[in-house]
Amino acid sequence: MPHCIKPCQKIRGTIHLPGDKSITHRSVMVSAIAKGSTCIKNFSFSDDCKATINAIRLLGVKVQRLDNDTLSVEGVGLFGLTKPTRAINVGESATTMRILAGLLCAQNFETTLDGSEGLRKRPMLRVLKPLRLMGAEIHARKKGNDEYPPLRICPGKLKALHWKMPVASAQVKSAIILAGMYARGISTIYEPLRTRDHTERMLRYFKANIKVTRKKISIGHGELTSPKSIRIPSDISSASFFIVLACVLKNSHIAIRNVSLNQTRCGIIDVLKKMGGRIQIINKQEKYGEPIGDLVVESSSLRAVTVEERRIPTLIDELPILMVAASFAKGTTILKGVSELRVKETDRISSMVVNLSKMGVLIESKLKGNKEVISIQGKAGVRGGSFSSFGDHRTAMSLVIAGLAANSPTSIDEVACVAKSFPNFLDILKYLVVS
Ligand code: S3P
Repeated sequence: MPHCIKPCQKIRGTIHLPGDKSITHRSVMVSAIAKGSTCIKNFSFSDDCKATINAIRLLGVKVQRLDNDTLSVEGVGLFGLTKPTRAINVGESATTMRILAGLLCAQNFETTLDGSEGLRKRPMLRVLKPLRLMGAEIHARKKGNDEYPPLRICPGKLKALHWKMPVASAQVKSAIILAGMYARGISTIYEPLRTRDHTERMLRYFKANIKVTRKKISIGHGELTSPKSIRIPSDISSASFFIVLACVLKNSHIAIRNVSLNQTRCGIIDVLKKMGGRIQIINKQEKYGEPIGDLVVESSSLRAVTVEERRIPTLIDELPILMVAASFAKGTTILKGVSELRVKETDRISSMVVNLSKMGVLIESKLKGNKEVISIQGKAGVRGGSFSSFGDHRTAMSLVIAGLAANSPTSIDEVACVAKSFPNFLDILKYLVVS
């Protein structure tokens, strides 16, 4: 059903957000193979994270939802997972599939990982290649130069790998790290650009045999010990929608509590600040192995910025909402080296170019050498109209924000897809909006 949005005047209020999706996935997987039970607070019960819970349950682990935002996982130790009675369907969640592939290729039983039609179109060779070099036997559907789900993962005895990653991907890195815990010897991973380091941080918090320096990650065999209880920080990716809206609307003022301030994730804050965003960070501290703090955001006069390729992994999921911010900024924003956006839930370059152009924004993407560059000329009066989310959660939420800041009403064909990462997005927005 189309979702209609009337432009709003301002947003105000203080909010707490559900747990970071990336950290939530890892919390379930790592707790499952640790010794002892773990109580996970501020858990994100989004569709993707529910897919991870389902997968872990099928692998014989007792997982219980205790209340609205708390999950308990009875860890079975590194070698306690059991053969699932059927193929594991991870729905839309590429994070679940890619990271679990690393864990499952080291088990002494066979598993099949499958997913939705959308997930069956997402490339898997990036993760299969290094795992196969470790000795994993994984069969996938070959098409063109890549391989696609379902994945049939056979029992494997792994050896250590020394891997220079060709693509900056935290999912691939995490799969190698998990496989590395079962391999003979110490595996080392070098990243071309730093990506989110939640797996490394969580494993360190669970006392894994892991060492991280600026250039390399070393992982070896070693049991994990549950810290008993952890709390997931509010998701910076979810927060970014409200941060941008507060910046572009007049007379707005919001506070967001306990947000993840991990440097490998916070590119959106740094870039918006560079654009003139009035964002204050307070109460910064480290909790459960991750940096967190409160954000205070006020109406701002945004100006254009150039974002270099090396910053892209720190804001990869925030690029659609950053494109919205750039549409309201003075001048031409340039985003360099963004081609990974083409292989997300949808081709987000194409979907944002189509939608923002319809809003009257001059936006284009160009190939410079083999690198993709987006340029966006901001304008004062972005107009509403009828738009398509293409069934992509981050595109849908970005369009809702653009619609609220536009100068005429907007309708979006499908917004139910927001449940993939942020089921109560519209409720929180409703609470903040003052019309
Ligand atoms: C994620 C890593 C990123 C990101 C995705 C979540 C993770 O993907 O886009 O939404 O939790 O590890 P890539 O690893 O493909 O860059």
